[in-house]
Formats: sequence, C-alpha cells, structure tokens
Amino acid sequence: MIDPAQKIYVAGHQGLVGAAIVRRLQSQGYSNLVLRTRSELDLTNQDQVSQFFLQEKPDLVFLAAAKVGGIWANDMFPVDFLQDNLRIELNVVEAAYRSGVNKLQFLGSSCIYPKLAPQPMQESSLLTGPLEPTNQWYAAAKIAGIMLCQAYRKQYGFDAISLMPTNLYGPGDNFHAENSHVLPALLRRFHEAKLSGASDVEIWGTGEPRREFLHVDDLADAAVFLMNSYCDPEIINVGTGTDVSIRELAELIQEVVGYRGSIRFDTSRPDGTPRKLLDVSRLQELGWQPKIALRDGIATTYRWFLDNQSQLRGVEAGEPAAV
Ligand SMILES: NC(=O)c1ccc[n+]([C@@H]2O[C@H](COP(=O)([O-])OP(=O)(O)OC[C@H]3O[C@@H](n4cnc5c(N)ncnc54)[C@H](OP(=O)(O)O)[C@@H]3O)[C@@H](O)[C@H]2O)c1
Repeated sequence: MIDPAQKIYVAGHQGLVGAAIVRRLQSQGYSNLVLRTRSELDLTNQDQVSQFFLQEKPDLVFLAAAKVGGIWANDMFPVDFLQDNLRIELNVVEAAYRSGVNKLQFLGSSCIYPKLAPQPMQESSLLTGPLEPTNQWYAAAKIAGIMLCQAYRKQYGFDAISLMPTNLYGPGDNFHAENSHVLPALLRRFHEAKLSGASDVEIWGTGEPRREFLHVDDLADAAVFLMNSYCDPEIINVGTGTDVSIRELAELIQEVVGYRGSIRFDTSRPDGTPRKLLDVSRLQELGWQPKIALRDGIATTYRWFLDNQSQLRGVEAGEPAAV
C-alpha cells in the first residue's frame, strides 16, 4: 500500500485523467501531493523537469500529462504530437529515475494497438501490425513511452509500469461541439437540441460500431490500485471489458438528457472501425472491477456539464468528433 507520508507527483493534474487521480488520492487520505501547472513546469523542458525532481524528490509519479487531441489535430500537427509526447516521457522518466523515485506509472492509450488487432484487444497485440494512420504519431510516441519504462526497468531496475486505458469520459471532459470524443460530443448535441426544441439529432454513420467507455473516476481507482499492486514490465489494459453500439450510447444519452425528439443516422457517412474493445482479463484477475455503470456515469457527467458550462474546455474548431 502507498504510505500516506509518501510524496506523490501527479503530472497533468489539470487534465481529465490527472484531476481524477488527484480526487481519488485525496479521497483515500493521501495529502502529500506535488502539483504543477504547465506554466509552472513545462514538461517538454528537460532542465526545468530535472530541477523540479531534484528539488521536490517525489516518491511516486503518475504521468498523466500528454499532448492529447483528436484526428484533425493529429493530422495537422504530427510533429507536435510526436515530439512533445516523446519529450515529456523522456524528461519525466529520466528525471524520476535519477532523483530516486520509487515507482512511476505511465498512462498510455488503446490507440497503441494495431488498426486491425483482433477484438477484444489483448496486451500481446502490441507491435503486431500497422497502426491506425490518423493518430499514428501520437501512438508511436506512446509506444516509445512504454518501451522507455521497460528499458529503465531492464537496465536500471526502475519500477515503471504502463497502463493502457480505453475511451474515458467524466467530469472535466472536453465538450467542444466538434473537437471532442463521441460521448461528450453527443451529450452536448442532445442538450442543445433539447434547448432549441430541434425535432431530431443527426449522428454520422449507421450507429452500429461498438465502443467501450470507462468513467474517469473508475480509471483513477484502477490507477491507484495498480500503483499499489502491479509491478511488471508488461503493459496492462484498463477498461470495462464491455462495449455498446453508438446507437445504444445515443439512446442512453437521449434518455439522460431528457430529449424528446428523434435520432437520425446519416448512413452516407463513414462508420469507422466496427469494434474497439480491450481485453481486461489480466486486470480482472488482479481483482479490479469498474464500479460506475454507464448510465450513472453519463448522468453525473451531464450534471457536471450543466454546472460548468461557463468554463468548458475546448480547442480548435472544425475538428470532427472522434469515435
Ligand atoms: N481521455 C481519454 O479518453 C484517454 C483514453 C486513454 C488514455 N488516455 C491517456 O491519459 C493521459 C491524459 O489524458 P487526458 O485525457 O487527461 O488529457 P488532457 O485532459 O488533455 O490532460 C493532459 C494534461 O497534460 C498537460 N500537459 C500537456 N503538455 C504539457 C507540458 N508540456 N507540460 C506540462 N503539462 C502538460 C495538460 O496541461 P494543460 O491543461 O495546460 O493543457 C493537461 O493538464 C494521456 O496520456 C492519454 O493518452 C486518455
């Protein structure tokens, strides 16, 4: 178990994942947290990172900082996605090791798996085929991060572990109208349709593709659980192990939002990959299960959206919602 006296650095604590990890740690009584905003500490800057670690000497590190974005941004700014993420990983892992950190947890993503990986995707699928071209820059950097953790463990015995979360959602998500993931994008679209009295909400594709969604508070629970219990060079998937069709998701969101119009699927639009689901049997064998049902998670996320509309996050306009 993490000793409450240990100093814990959560990198990226203002992001969706980092903020949830901080909430989780605080709710479990861990108060010795070190947090820095990007303006206080730019993780792409090697000198700043190295100095920070030497001064603060944290015991544990959750690396939840990354340059994250959708398909459009990945396509437009491949250098930024590759370079920033490689720099963040290299700087943080190296400085953590050199300053005597006991354990580091690296957050990857399910996009590291090959485009045509058999479903559900097992950890052993890593590096068995070509990546999805649209976010390959980001995925390549994440794969390098995984291998960096493995290399530091192999060469120096540094306890660095890598988690691969599925699609996440929850409080603090990006609800930008176009540049957001499918779940927050639909929540906002149904909400606006309800307010405007629109007769229908249009969704691209057939609604048949299936996707997995994990509440970010469940991810944070798993992250703390694995920080306590997992000590292995192999990556480990974090998800629910179940998926829903986009149609089922849309109907759930419609119900939660209370939108009375109809849903119209524009079947002339592309569907994307038919199914994306993680195999979570290794995580389940360790004794971890998600606790937040999708309907409940959507309801609390909608409540958060309503309460925080004035300060919602959003980036470049014109980017399509990622499924
Ligand atoms: N969201 C998902 O569905 C999902 C799914 C699977 C895996 N993940 C993984 O989880 C991790 C976190 O993702 P997220 O969704 O929480 O992303 P996010 O909300 O965009 O948060 C990323 C955080 O990193 C910080 N950051 C970025 N560049 C930085 C830099 N140069 N120096 C210091 N801080 C920097 C950001 O700071 P600012 O606030 O200043 O931008 C932000 O706080 C990523 O590794 C991602 O791959 C996410």
